[in-house]
Amino acid sequence: MKIFLIGFMGSGKSTLGRKLSVALKLTFIDLDTFLEEKYFRTIPQIFAEEGEDAFRRKERKVLEEVSAFDDVIVATGGGAPCFFDNMELMNNTGFCIFLDVAPKSLVSRLIHAKTERPLIKGKTPEELQQFIDATMVRRRPFYEKARYILKGEEISPEQVIELVTKG
Ligand code: S3P
Repeated sequence: MKIFLIGFMGSGKSTLGRKLSVALKLTFIDLDTFLEEKYFRTIPQIFAEEGEDAFRRKERKVLEEVSAFDDVIVATGGGAPCFFDNMELMNNTGFCIFLDVAPKSLVSRLIHAKTERPLIKGKTPEELQQFIDATMVRRRPFYEKARYILKGEEISPEQVIELVTKG
């Protein structure tokens, strides 16, 4: 079995993915970490030195790699579903689940997050809110191509297990 967790930054993909990997006995892969280890650079470094387009090409490459693995649960970066035909790749090779968290909750989570995220670095809470609202409008049509959509602030591993075991 292969599961892809998708959704905006701060939607809880990695936290949920780790819990699910234990419950379902799958290997957990955080796509951002996988990318950083492959290219020996952090995401902020790649954005700063090569720009977003180069990051997206690398992201596509690692997504192709992990799509060929079996028995994995992959937490993708928030933008991954919205470039190239990445959604089609994920839908064709695994169960894709969109964690649909309300923008208001994303703002408060991202303000307090320790991870450095180039797209939102240095934004005030108001700017962050605007960025999330505008970006979500553009990204939602991609996210909604997922086979399953789970809405809520605290999506539990049990909810996902029920979905994927029912087929
Ligand atoms: C991004 C989300 C990040 C990371 C990069 C770009 C995005 O991943 O891939 O900073 O475009 O939304 P997380 O969703 O894990 O924060």
